[in-house]
Amino acid sequence: MKLMEIDGGRELSGTIRISGAKNATVALIPAAILTDDEATICNIPEITDTDALCDILEFLKVKVNRASESIVIDPKFMENAEITEEFSKKLRASYYFMGALLGKFKKAVMYFPGGCSIGARPIDLHLKGFEALGATIKIEKNKYIVEAEELKGANIYLDIASVGATINIMLAAVKAKGKTVIDNAAKEPEIVNVATFLNNMGAKIVGAGTSTIKIEGVDHLSKCFHEVIPDRIEAGTYIIIGALCGKNFKVDNMIPEHVDSLISKLEEMDVNLEIGSDYVTILEKNKPYKATNVKTAVYPGFPTDLQQPFTVLLTQAHGKSKVNETIWENRFMHVPYLNNLGANIIIQNQTATILGPTDLKGTSVVATDLRAGAALVAAALTATGKTTITNVEHILRGYEQIIEKLTNVGAKITIKEI
Ligand code: EPZ
Repeated sequence: MKLMEIDGGRELSGTIRISGAKNATVALIPAAILTDDEATICNIPEITDTDALCDILEFLKVKVNRASESIVIDPKFMENAEITEEFSKKLRASYYFMGALLGKFKKAVMYFPGGCSIGARPIDLHLKGFEALGATIKIEKNKYIVEAEELKGANIYLDIASVGATINIMLAAVKAKGKTVIDNAAKEPEIVNVATFLNNMGAKIVGAGTSTIKIEGVDHLSKCFHEVIPDRIEAGTYIIIGALCGKNFKVDNMIPEHVDSLISKLEEMDVNLEIGSDYVTILEKNKPYKATNVKTAVYPGFPTDLQQPFTVLLTQAHGKSKVNETIWENRFMHVPYLNNLGANIIIQNQTATILGPTDLKGTSVVATDLRAGAALVAAALTATGKTTITNVEHILRGYEQIIEKLTNVGAKITIKEI
């Protein structure tokens, strides 16, 4: 087990460079097996979720060549084996192998995926999509056997604009016969990035980034080169940290449009920002922050993945703020720990009410999931004194070189094995 120690209350300044997006990478790596040649993907973040997916590729006898931030994936001699429960449970995104293997081999066998415990996280919409394409699904305990004689294009309406279901159906449909239309598709930038990757291989996908995606199936997918988009959630997390304890704190190599909803909220709170074409700088704080209300929503709404770090910022705003979580049932697990640090937050149903500002003081806390962990890092950097965060493996799943990046801007943060 690893723990982080943070000596907080310091002013941070300098530049943080944003890495490739985790939630695009975790779909691009399984998607790469669809090529009949090889796929090169660059700007891959070095996070443990990337390692876990590469382990699955190697288990399936896919050739994987990783060099610094790029990866070459060659599935020419791969075998379609059952993905073990241990591999399936390592992360949520293992479920993208279902769509990719179904598309390539017309059969996928794996177990219910793992990932952060932020809700029940059913995969019924993924399965309904595969069924609509002609697959049959057998569930034996928590093992899923998905197979089809032939995949045929279909019209699929998603009851919820699910990111995972949209991508998984796209992965299976690129090699189905005929045309698939996904209605009420999710519109997140990661979906556009995955569709671009598949199109670079020769797929025929139009409409990614809108709520209707049309896919004309093809027989072959060829060699391609692709770049992962910058991580909007990593960028948003550091922008929030900058608003909490930064001055001339630049978050660089990002796409500001991807965090428009966050920027609007920060402006509403009077955070002093400079927004460039590929960066956001948090300037000197020149006004007390105002309280605000936020409701999470699918893209381009306020991202659930930033809700937890944003709650920390609201502890420093003057007045009563409300955070309404609409995507995940269990995404306030950071709140008791924020209260231990000195925050004044009450949760009722799916809404947290934050009374601010409150002084935060270092103590011992536990990272219960990835973004809860990021929120605790933000709080610990703000708090005076020392905070110890345990279970930081969750954080390392999604934030590349977090210790180095924060140390470079003046944070006192260390990580050690216990
Ligand atoms: C993706 O999860 C992200 N994960 C999550 O990021 C993110 O919070 C989420 O999208 C929403 O933006 C990855 O990309 C790997 P959904 P996903 O399917 O695809 C319900 C992070 O911290 N639903 O869009 O699993 C579901 O329960 C993480 O980086 C069904 O009911 O999310 C939820 O309420 C955590 N049935 C809602 O839809 C289904 O079949 C949205 O889920 C699928 C989803």
